[in-house]
Amino acid sequence: MQSPSHPTTRPTLLRSGAQRFADAADTRAIAQRRLPRMVFDYIDGAAGRETAAKANRSELDALRLLPRVLHATEGASLQTRFLGQSLAQPWGIAPMGMCNLAWPGADTMLARAARQRGMPLGVSTAASTNLETVLKQSAGHAWFQLYVTGGTEAALALADRAAQAGYRHLVLTVDVPKVAPRPRDVRNGFAMPLRLGPAQYWDFAMHPAWSLSTLWAGIPRTANFSAQAAFDRYASRAGANWEFLDHLRAHWKGQLIVKGVLHPQDAVRIRDAGADAVYVSNHGGRQLDSAPAAIEQLGLIRAAVGADYPLVFDSGIRSGEDVVKALVCGANLVMLGRATLYAIAAGGAQALDQYLDAVQESALTALVQLGVRSPAELGPQLLAHPPVDPSQSQEPS
Ligand SMILES: Cc1cc2nc3c(=O)[nH]c(=O)nc-3n(C[C@H](O)[C@H](O)[C@H](O)COP(=O)(O)O)c2cc1C
Repeated sequence: MQSPSHPTTRPTLLRSGAQRFADAADTRAIAQRRLPRMVFDYIDGAAGRETAAKANRSELDALRLLPRVLHATEGASLQTRFLGQSLAQPWGIAPMGMCNLAWPGADTMLARAARQRGMPLGVSTAASTNLETVLKQSAGHAWFQLYVTGGTEAALALADRAAQAGYRHLVLTVDVPKVAPRPRDVRNGFAMPLRLGPAQYWDFAMHPAWSLSTLWAGIPRTANFSAQAAFDRYASRAGANWEFLDHLRAHWKGQLIVKGVLHPQDAVRIRDAGADAVYVSNHGGRQLDSAPAAIEQLGLIRAAVGADYPLVFDSGIRSGEDVVKALVCGANLVMLGRATLYAIAAGGAQALDQYLDAVQESALTALVQLGVRSPAELGPQLLAHPPVDPSQSQEPS
């Protein structure tokens, strides 16, 4: 007999028109065909030789989960609590600048998905739709991401603007004191605002569907800034320091989450400074090429901050099974980055929905194979090769 609570559908095929996608690798491949090279590389690229971005994937792939059988998993659900809120699933969407480059209307598609699924959506300082509009479109599910750019006073003013708009969550990103050079962007002449020369026009001409729709919708720009006080992508963001964190903690009355943390001691100090959550991330490998894979640091940070302190995680997540791996390693909430933009570029809102459904299906399937009924039951005991706990090791006799 089928349990009503277990998925009874066939595996989801991501479909857009005639296209069928099985997973994020497929949507990435279609995105690569549909987008001008400069745009695809802005989304897909990373710092340096892209070692950290590759390590995010290889370390996630290397993690082995050990199935447990014959457990009563009927009624299993992905329902989660995070920072006092009930969420239908333990994931959300990471803040990303200039999403409308992936396809016109991408910000609105993400906001709609956040609204319909009740999941958090990070709205970047460098978003291509203004923070007020995205909060409305997401029906309050948006979190504002703050860069300290243009000085600390300007950053506090932006935080005030977010509070005024109704944001209750602020994500302070601290791993970009300076934007890292990304070789693909350098080669393609990518700049913000876009600078167009013969190479870029040729690139656009070879991708007419994207180019015509983008021209029609208007070339995306950093919409939280005016032409007079423009966002300078290359300006220092090093004003995000410990002193600023203390100041911001006293200033911001809502939930404060600090993003871009890899060192356990930094995580402990951020917790002790009064942040509500630490967001473990290596920025998808877009900052320090020789940084460790974020997943390698997650267990160490969980051990350092204690069992109950809220941790968000991103970097390299592509599937629901990846989400489960991050939860097993100590995350409470996992954010999807590039994968959501690949889906939008491959097939718009429909492909995004189908991708998110596929994440849901794969996460729930992994959960029940691990013999548990809820994300709260996941932990390192489900790793096939758990890290050795030195306190448990036997003394040789
Ligand atoms: C196109 C793009 C733009 C991004 N912009 C921002 C940003 O403005 N602020 C920020 O904190 N992180 C930004 N990130 C990093 C993401 O929040 C996230 O850490 C990263 O994408 C996770 O890795 P993944 O893409 O492999 O999942 C950006 C990432 C991408 C791909």
